[in-house]
Parts: sequence; C-alpha cells; structure tokens
Amino acid sequence: MNKGDICTNVDKSQLKFRFFQIYRCYQFLILSYLRSCMTDFRFSASIQGLIFDLDGVLVDTRPYHLAAWSRLAAQLGVEIDASHNEVLRGLSRMESLEKILEWGNLYCSEAEKLHWSDVKNNWYIDAITRMSPEEVLPGVRSFLETCKLAGKKTAVVSSSKNARTVLQSTELEPLFDAVVDGTMFKKPKPAPDVFWVAAELIGCAPSACVVFEDAPSGVAAAKKEGFWTVGVGIHRALCESNWRISGFEQLTPVFEEQHCEID
Ligand code: BG6
Ligand code: MG
Repeated sequence: MNKGDICTNVDKSQLKFRFFQIYRCYQFLILSYLRSCMTDFRFSASIQGLIFDLDGVLVDTRPYHLAAWSRLAAQLGVEIDASHNEVLRGLSRMESLEKILEWGNLYCSEAEKLHWSDVKNNWYIDAITRMSPEEVLPGVRSFLETCKLAGKKTAVVSSSKNARTVLQSTELEPLFDAVVDGTMFKKPKPAPDVFWVAAELIGCAPSACVVFEDAPSGVAAAKKEGFWTVGVGIHRALCESNWRISGFEQLTPVFEEQHCEID
C-alpha cells in the first residue's frame, strides 16, 4: 500500500462520517417535527383504529382511471388529460362520467350512461387485475405492518366498487380488518356514514380513529363526523384536514417510537 492509498482511505472514512453526521442531524429534525405533530393528534396513545382511503392513499390508480376514462372520452369525442383526471379524484364512477359528458356538452339517457360506465369499468378492471404489489405507494406496506404489530385495527373505506380487486392484486388485503367499498352503499363516500360503518366493523369509536384521505370531499365528510383526518398529498385543497402528510415513508419510525414509549 502506498501513501496515496492511505490518504484516499482517510478521506473516504471522513466523508462517510460527515455524511452520517448530516444524516443524523436531519433525521433528528424530521423526527422532532413529526413527533410534535403526532403528539398533537395523540397518534398511538388513544388512536385504536386507522381508516384508509384506497385510491391515491394506498395505491395510485389514477393512471388506470385516466387511461380508461380518456379512452372512453375519445369515443365520445371529448379530450381529457391529467388535469381533468384530478377533478375526478374521489368522485363516483357515474359522477365522473357525468363530468365528462358536461365537458363535452353531451347528453346521454340513463341507459346510455350505464352502458358507457360499464365500458369504462371493463377496461379499468382489465388494468387493475394486472397490478402488482410493487405498485403500493412508498412506505404504505411497512406502515401498515407496524400498525398491525402494534395491535391497531385497520380498515379501508373506498367508494370504488373495485376496491377488493385492487387490494388483492397488490396483496394488501391481509393487512386490513375490514373493507368498506362502493358495493356496500347506495350513497358511497363522501356520504359520512361509510366511516361510521368502518369504525363499527373494527370495533373502535370514531374519536379513537384516524382517517387518511387524499380527496378534499373525503376529508370534509370524515371531519364532519368527528374523525381525526390526515390529508395525504400536497394539494392545497387538503388544508381542511387536521394534519397533512406527503406520504407514509416518514410515519413508521415515529409510530414505532411512540408505541414503544407507551407500552
Ligand atoms: C374512488 C376514485 O376511490 O373510486 C374515483 O378516487 C373513482 O376516481 C371511484 O371514480 C369509483 O371507482 P370504481 O372503481 O367503482 O369505478
Ligand atoms: Mg382517494
């Protein structure tokens, strides 16, 4: 080994040490910030149940909805893009179709609407049955696993009639104690009683549940019924929620830490 090699090794280990110091510094800041927010909503102290919206919270199905809706819109002579798709976020299938008809200034009878929404749904089902576990959004699976290890109850509340298919394709289904989907209600979300049903199914009082939502309408509905709400995403419209996160990646360490402190 010559002198040059020693210098390079020293530099490398110094660099590693500096990087580690910076990482530790930021980790502390991030954790402190999140901890203060968590304490605010008594994350693991009194929260017994965690209720999750599916589309846009656990998985991003928007590209599949967009692909199917824009294919249908094109058949109807309407052009839609990702910004139109954002407007459809959280709307039911029929409401989404009606929006597209409105954008195209089109009229359809009820029978035609049912036909077109079935056409869209068949394309959508074709895509979601081919979804894979890798499509679960970052941090979601480990957060859910940590919640289960901590003995918390978990539920999905979705207006989608295809929620179970998505949960099965992505292998998320075993991580939930209850699934409340669009097949169970005449009036799906944002009708607030869907959250109550979920809370009842997991045996938790609404005041002991936190609801994770990406749609402003879902946040408003849950909040109105006394649930603590966490808006998932960066949209300004989510500012009504009690708390906002951009994703689940940072939540697991805080949850683990708080849970250990309590038990
Ligand atoms: C919601 C989605 O979860 O489910 C909407 O955000 C969608 O975009 C709605 O329209 C209904 O879904 P589905 O699968 O029943 O057509
Ligand atoms: Mg959603």
